[in-house]
Amino acid sequence: MRIGMLTGGGDCPGLNAVLRAAVRKGQTHYDDELLGFRDGWKGVLENRADELDVERMRGTLPRGGTVLGSSRTNPYKVDGGVDRVKETLAKNNVEALIVIGGEDTLGVANKLSDEGVKVVGVPKTIDNDLSATELTFGFDTAVQICVDAIDRLHTTAESHDRVMVVEVMGRHAGHIAVWAGIGGGAMMVLIPEKPFDIEEVCAAIQHRHETKGRYASIVVVAEGATPVEGTLSVHTSGEVDAFGHARLGGIGDALAREIESRTGYETRAIVLGHVQRGGTPTAFDRVLSTRFGIAAIDAVHDGAFGAMVALRCGNVVRVPLREATEELKLVPDDLYDVAKVFFG
Ligand code: F6P
Repeated sequence: MRIGMLTGGGDCPGLNAVLRAAVRKGQTHYDDELLGFRDGWKGVLENRADELDVERMRGTLPRGGTVLGSSRTNPYKVDGGVDRVKETLAKNNVEALIVIGGEDTLGVANKLSDEGVKVVGVPKTIDNDLSATELTFGFDTAVQICVDAIDRLHTTAESHDRVMVVEVMGRHAGHIAVWAGIGGGAMMVLIPEKPFDIEEVCAAIQHRHETKGRYASIVVVAEGATPVEGTLSVHTSGEVDAFGHARLGGIGDALAREIESRTGYETRAIVLGHVQRGGTPTAFDRVLSTRFGIAAIDAVHDGAFGAMVALRCGNVVRVPLREATEELKLVPDDLYDVAKVFFG
């Protein structure tokens, strides 16, 4: 078969491992021709693609990012976009498309699938907020990067007896924050799912410092965490992407300023930002990506279109793309309760 592949949305460690695995099994086992579209849906709209083969993918397993490039392009927001996608696929004799993305990229894939395009989805996002799969690759790497940073912040926080507010990614869901908070020993974790009360946050820090003496504190906050309405103003750029998502960032600074002024404890904000998305994937993410890549090419050959590969109970299975993009996976209460045991 002649199969197209693309990576869309925010990049994450493990994308190349998916491509490499799909190319390897496609070329050597099924005798496929693989075509990699550049920059997500943008490359399909503009008919920009490279032939992919085992040789081209050599050495990419440990490389972060994506050799194909990525973008946040929504063909449904472009005049004649969907027709252009179909034209490009026809022009290149592409019989099926493997789409590697998060909620937005896969949302487009799902709509195209309803219109008859033969699509198989692969879930990726460091945010781990896709329902229908227990884990997305990239998440484990991002959490490890956060925990490494928090370990380092502990020692400098202790030397100076400071509060460190660590802002991590997580637009709508606080999976990274909760895992990083538990793994890094945070005394407070604030997530989008639970609007926070700044008075309670400061009271907990104060209680910890007053009852335990000189004691530094690490507060982890997801970029999408929000204060209880009307209690704290947070400046955002107001910019939105092609899928209508606001560009976040700023909660860490706002929180640090407020904590310092309310408690009198010296406080610093650290924004980990895109560092969380960069660099080499962990062994876990390499294996998961490889399994997903193999499962995706197998799904194409089984004619399982409109499906997404997913991890459930340790097994890679196929689920309907619709199910995967319908709703976001939020942090379960029982996991947040584990983090809460260490609050204060
Ligand atoms: O969707 C993954 C993500 O890393 C989010 O956590 C974050 O809000 C967003 O991407 C950042 O996007 P950009 O790379 O466009 O700044």
